[in-house]
Amino acid sequence: MEIRKAMKRKNKVELTAATADPHLLYEESVQSSESTIQMIESVFDARGFSAPASLREDFCGTARLCVDWVASRPDRTALGLDIDSGVLRWAETNNLESLEQDARRVTLVKRDVLEGHRRRVDVTVALNFSYWVFHERQELVQYFKKVRQSLKKNGCLILNLHGGPDAQFQLEEITEFDGFDYVWEQGEFDAVNNRAKCYIHFRFDDGSSLEQAFIYDWRIWSLPELRDALTDAGFSRIDVWWEDEENDRLFRVTRQENTESWIANLAAWR
Ligand SMILES: C[S@@+](CC[C@H](N)C(=O)[O-])C[C@H]1O[C@@H](n2cnc3c(N)ncnc32)[C@H](O)[C@@H]1O
Repeated sequence: MEIRKAMKRKNKVELTAATADPHLLYEESVQSSESTIQMIESVFDARGFSAPASLREDFCGTARLCVDWVASRPDRTALGLDIDSGVLRWAETNNLESLEQDARRVTLVKRDVLEGHRRRVDVTVALNFSYWVFHERQELVQYFKKVRQSLKKNGCLILNLHGGPDAQFQLEEITEFDGFDYVWEQGEFDAVNNRAKCYIHFRFDDGSSLEQAFIYDWRIWSLPELRDALTDAGFSRIDVWWEDEENDRLFRVTRQENTESWIANLAAWR
C-alpha cells in the first residue's frame, strides 16, 4: 500500500472516532498525489513521450488525484469514475470546491468502470489495487479492453500491484500518523482462488477506533497474470516499474529478485 506522511488535514482538532472523517484519513495515510504524478510523468518520459495532459482516474473515490492533477498544470484535465454516488458527492463538496474555477477541468461520473467512457485520454490509472475487485479473468480482460479503447495514440494504462509472499499472509501492519494510527489488515487468503479480505482500521489516541472503515474483497493477481491479461486485451507493450520504498525511487525492470513484500506499477501502452 502506498503509505505517505500526513500533509493537509486542516483545522486540527483532536481526532477521535466521533470527529474523524474516514475519507480524509484515507487520503492522508494511503494516497500521495505528488508521487503519483511524478510516477506518471517518469513513465511517459522514459518512453520519449511528452508529459500527459488528460487523465482518467478509475475507482476515483474522493477524486484526490483528479484534483491534484488539474492543479499541477493549467492545461490538464481529469475524468474520475466511481460506482458510489456517496463518495463522489463527498469529492465534490470537499475536494472540488477548493479548485474554484479550475473545478471545470474535472469531470466526475458515477459509473461502473466496466462500462468505460467515451472520452479519449492520454493516461488512465487504477491505483491502490482497486481493480482487484475483478475476480474473474474474463471480467478483468473486458475492463482492460474498455480502457484501451479510450486511450489516445501513445496513451497508457497504469496499474499498481502488491506482491511477494507477504501479500498472501494474514497480517496487521500499523503506521503512525499525526493523531491516528493507520492499520492495514490482510485477512484469510484462499489459495485456490487467490481471494483475500483486507481491511483498513483507524485508531485514535483516546482509545476509540474506526474498525473496518474500508473493506476489500479482492483477488490477488500476480504480475505475470496481469501482463498476460493486458496482452490479451490488446496492449502493445507493458513496462514494469519497481518501487524502491526505502529510497523513494522507481526503476524500470525486466527481471527482479522477489522480496517479502513489494509494490510495482505496470504501464500498459495502447
Ligand atoms: C480504494 S478506493 C480507491 C480510491 C483511490 N482512487 C485510490 O487510488 O486510493 C476504491 C473505490 O472503487 C470504487 N469501485 C469499486 N468497484 C467499482 C467499479 N466496478 N466501478 C467503479 N468504481 C468502483 C469504490 O466505490 C471505491 O470508491
